[in-house]
Amino acid sequence: MTPDRKDLPPRQREFEDPDERVRPLPRVLIAVIVVLLAWSGWYLATSTPQMDATLGDGRTAAGFAAPKAGALDGGQVYAGKCAGCHQATGAGVTGVFPPLANSPWVTGSETRLVQILLHGIQGPIEVLGATYNGLMPAWKSLSDEEIAAVATYVRSGFGNSASPVSAATVAAERARTSTRTTSWEGGAALDSVP
Ligand code: HEC
Repeated sequence: MTPDRKDLPPRQREFEDPDERVRPLPRVLIAVIVVLLAWSGWYLATSTPQMDATLGDGRTAAGFAAPKAGALDGGQVYAGKCAGCHQATGAGVTGVFPPLANSPWVTGSETRLVQILLHGIQGPIEVLGATYNGLMPAWKSLSDEEIAAVATYVRSGFGNSASPVSAATVAAERARTSTRTTSWEGGAALDSVP
């Protein structure tokens, strides 16, 4: 018969101190980790960024390509480059910025309009009975397509109904006056433009 614990001498009466035993990871868990690593590595190696677009928000790489020439929006060019002075309505500002609506400079000769856009105007010009003497900036930094688009836009907007202007016309006018470094000196100078 084992002696009662309380009858033992003090040191043997104590319980053993608990110890932390070495417990290796269970084999099953190691197997799961190995399988997960192998699978994720395989997934990264084999998946491509060009996956089915319906999985995302529906955009495709082609949708980010630069817009094609000809699809240029003249209204957008006008809003960005012209509306600040000539106003979104094309009515201009009395005495300061001449109107584009009904203006013969806009609806008349298309080559003259292109010349106005390419080189700008600095000098007196009469528009619908009022004389303006301000500064119309030159826009030759714009591409042929942009100038054609905005010229077409002003010729067909604001109640105007003149024919569209092609980029080829702009290119020809640009080449014809490529040596010009100053703005047109006003309405009189522009009258000589065919
Ligand atoms: C900084 C202000 C300003 C901007 C921007 C501007 N213009 Fe002008 N524009 C003028 C002024 C001022 C005149 C009159 C020039 C003068 O008095 O010598 C004028 C004249 C004209 C004329 C001839 C007169 C008429 O009213 O028909 C046309 C056409 C024209 N601008 C079109 C445009 C177009 C298109 C754009 C944009 C690509 C543009 N302008 C941007 C100030 C501006």
